[in-house]
Amino acid sequence: MPRSPRATQLIDPAAIRGRDRYHLMTSLVAPRPIGWISTRGADGVPNLAPYSFFAALSAAPMLVGVSVGMPRGALKDTGRNLRARDAFCVNVVTEELLSAMNETSASVPPEVDEFELAGLTLAESEVVDAPFVAEARAVLECRVRTEVDLGEAANAFFVGEVVGVRLDPSLEMEPDTSIVTPESLRPVGRLGGAAYMVADRIQRVQRPD
Ligand SMILES: Cc1cc2nc3c(=O)[nH]c(=O)nc-3n(C[C@H](O)[C@H](O)[C@H](O)COP(=O)(O)O)c2cc1C
Repeated sequence: MPRSPRATQLIDPAAIRGRDRYHLMTSLVAPRPIGWISTRGADGVPNLAPYSFFAALSAAPMLVGVSVGMPRGALKDTGRNLRARDAFCVNVVTEELLSAMNETSASVPPEVDEFELAGLTLAESEVVDAPFVAEARAVLECRVRTEVDLGEAANAFFVGEVVGVRLDPSLEMEPDTSIVTPESLRPVGRLGGAAYMVADRIQRVQRPD
């Protein structure tokens, strides 16, 4: 017998404060992957910052998308660098890099190099015009394909094509596949507020035929 729906509270996003919309969105669309994005400014200064309005969009070609905020109309440094150089690297955030990733989210002026700020080693991509985090065990090297207009949203959405995938030898694949095991990667997902999800219990569920 179909169950009758429980009385739930229906919230109209247009009727609540921006801060509450942000809190609802980020605690319910969760866990979110973190695009830890490294770029270089027009002036050559390296930049590194986490973005969890980030997603895989397509596998052929490999496309990822990142939505960069524009607080008070000013695009964050990552977005300005994406426009300037059309290149970025996505450094996969794993458990051992969680605290360094968090340090790179500090609001600092564009001339500050967040690699130095967080004590990370900068390495240069040979494929795209962007640096990457040498300590990251997986990196996606990307070229910006397009910037998508999100209307009145105070965000600029960039679509990047992955043109290189860098993997550390510590990573293991599931047999006869290119699936990197979560046990060897230990990726981190973002939940609401200051909460993150680490891979403490991994459950496998086989798909139906
Ligand atoms: C885990 C995490 C995820 C974040 N995701 C976003 C995001 O999706 N969009 C955004 O505009 N800022 C996001 N931020 C905040 C930026 O990282 C922060 O504003 C940073 O200073 C931006 O750096 P930039 O100006 O060098 O690009 C996030 C912060 C953290 C810790």
